[in-house]
Amino acid sequence: MTTLALHHHGPDTGLPLVLLHGFPLDARMWDDVVAQLAGLRIVTVDAPCFADSAAPPGDPSLDSYADALITALAAAGIRRAVVAGLSMGGYAALAVAESQPELLAGIGLLDTKSGRDDESTRLNRLAMARTVETEGADAVAPLIDSILGATSHAERPELLARFRAWLAEVPPTGVNWAQRAMAARPDRTTVLEALDVPSLVLYGDEDQMSPAVLAKQMADALGPSCVVVEVPGAGHMSANENPVVVAEALRDLYNRAAAVDH
Ligand code: MLT
Repeated sequence: MTTLALHHHGPDTGLPLVLLHGFPLDARMWDDVVAQLAGLRIVTVDAPCFADSAAPPGDPSLDSYADALITALAAAGIRRAVVAGLSMGGYAALAVAESQPELLAGIGLLDTKSGRDDESTRLNRLAMARTVETEGADAVAPLIDSILGATSHAERPELLARFRAWLAEVPPTGVNWAQRAMAARPDRTTVLEALDVPSLVLYGDEDQMSPAVLAKQMADALGPSCVVVEVPGAGHMSANENPVVVAEALRDLYNRAAAVDH
């Protein structure tokens, strides 16, 4: 039995594009992008303790998320894929790159970073992991201010309403598990230096949480295989704030990976 829920979209043969969502959402976060990518075989995944997924064994960590993902993909017959993750999903993609690089036909790192947390961020995560147990979804409601960019706050009332609804239904066990896992993650910049597959680094031009300077660090570590995309009018949730540009960048990554993957 596998702990992670996979959701299959499009054809059931061919090289898959695996999409890993950000915190504290679930696989539905990718719906806007999937709608733009007709014809591609896509697998979206619920992170541990979110939506239809359970907790992998052991303490919360991005490594156990990666192990559970590799197991779930193998159970679905998938041993090679383009893997792209947004923010927390990017941290999980980096953990896959470290533990099973041969799975990767390409890697996409969206609104994310390869470094570890500083001490105050780590302590804030552990504090939220505790408060969510008593406060429930109220503990994450203020995230709306930082995860969506200025353009979304000013011009996209439907998107704000959708995010408020998602944040209101987050599972406390998921928030607790994910914050403890993210707090424990190491710096994985050197993992990128060792990767030799087509890659994408993407960031919203209004993202305060994973800004351009951190994207550049990852792109430098990946080297010439890397295409960098700045998404206009998007904060930290570019896949929902500007799904057309994000889907275009993912399709380009997929085509570059498929062209060299035999
Ligand atoms: C996310 O969007 O997944 C989070 O911002 C990740 C984080 O808290 O570092």
